[in-house]
Amino acid sequence: MSRIGGLASGGGGNLEAILAAGLPVAVVVVDRPCRATELAEAAGVPWELVEWGGDRVDFTHRVVDSLENHGVELVAMAGFMRILEKPIFDAFPGRVLNTHPALLPSFRGAHAVEDALAAGVKVTGVTIHVAVAEVDAGPIIAQEAVPVLDGDTADTLHERIKAVEHRLYPDTIKRFMETGR
Ligand code: GRF
Repeated sequence: MSRIGGLASGGGGNLEAILAAGLPVAVVVVDRPCRATELAEAAGVPWELVEWGGDRVDFTHRVVDSLENHGVELVAMAGFMRILEKPIFDAFPGRVLNTHPALLPSFRGAHAVEDALAAGVKVTGVTIHVAVAEVDAGPIIAQEAVPVLDGDTADTLHERIKAVEHRLYPDTIKRFMETGR
């Protein structure tokens, strides 16, 4: 099985789901103090803080170093709120996965849930994809729809999206490790 490197910045819900699924996480890398480090410790997984330094390429190199030091083979971005540059896609070609809270190619970017609500779509969802240098592009490997309900706010809609992510992302990582797709 591949050794997974989890990248997280925030609530850590996706990381928690990946750990709970028993996937082989070798290290958790965070870019700021956040709940993900507590989740890693509770699971007995090492974690590293790679602080943002203002230069994206340099930051990406330091993230890659940290992942490589732990023998990572597959990277799972799990609510990582930094844009990474070419060095990580060179180091792990086709092996950086991401979850996005919308049905790509609709609503790319950091405000996908708000943007879907503002557009008035009746259905949005979750996309698991292979990350590439272009943000929220790259081959789609799984998608699941989530209906937008009357009266939804960004928070209520995002909660339902996250519930789907927490099942679909670990399941998809597992399948990707087994089949490469
Ligand atoms: C997820 O919905 C993810 O797709 C988006 O931000 C949320 C992060 O949640 N980029 P968490 O940190 O995994 O709880």
